[in-house]
Amino acid sequence: MKMKEVLNFKSCLKPVPDILVSCRGLNGENNALAVEYAGNCSFDPPMVMVGIVPTRYSYKMIQESGVFVVNLVSEELKEKYAYLGSHSGRDESKLDKIDMNIGEGVKVNAPILLDCPVSIECKVVDSIVTGSHEMFVGKVEYIHAKDELVNEDGSIDYNKINFLKFR
Ligand SMILES: Cc1cc2nc3c(=O)[nH]c(=O)nc-3n(C[C@H](O)[C@H](O)[C@H](O)COP(=O)(O)O)c2cc1C
Repeated sequence: MKMKEVLNFKSCLKPVPDILVSCRGLNGENNALAVEYAGNCSFDPPMVMVGIVPTRYSYKMIQESGVFVVNLVSEELKEKYAYLGSHSGRDESKLDKIDMNIGEGVKVNAPILLDCPVSIECKVVDSIVTGSHEMFVGKVEYIHAKDELVNEDGSIDYNKINFLKFR
């Protein structure tokens, strides 16, 4: 088969994880945004990284609080995901607007999104400006998962999650 040069380099690695990152301002304000620049970046200690554009309202919250929560997203949350990815907490309380159920982090002072199947609490240990995004490296501190997803050994059965494929 003949190969052809691709000229659009933007976000060329697919599929991307469609996650929601939730965070809290120093004034106690809760927020969340849709994020696709994310990945595991260490097994030991367990770390994940998320890429946030500095103009996002959430950016300052994560930078100042030093914590964030990665929430995995299932297909039935598509509309809420689209809303959180296209509206800013700068203009309204987005999580209230879409009736997202909120819980409290156990190890970090940030909201967890109870409608999501899995929520991963992280503490920022480093960050690197890569270009358009700043990659926040978060050490995993605590993971919440819906009861039916947790195996006897404490691991998550990811096959049971109907992951959102946003685009
Ligand atoms: C599918 C999708 C993926 C996105 N990925 C990112 C991302 O990786 N990083 C980012 O900063 N913004 C990303 N965004 C944009 C933010 O979610 C969006 O600008 C949001 O309104 C910011 O909210 P905030 O201002 O309340 O923080 C994405 C949006 C969508 C719809």
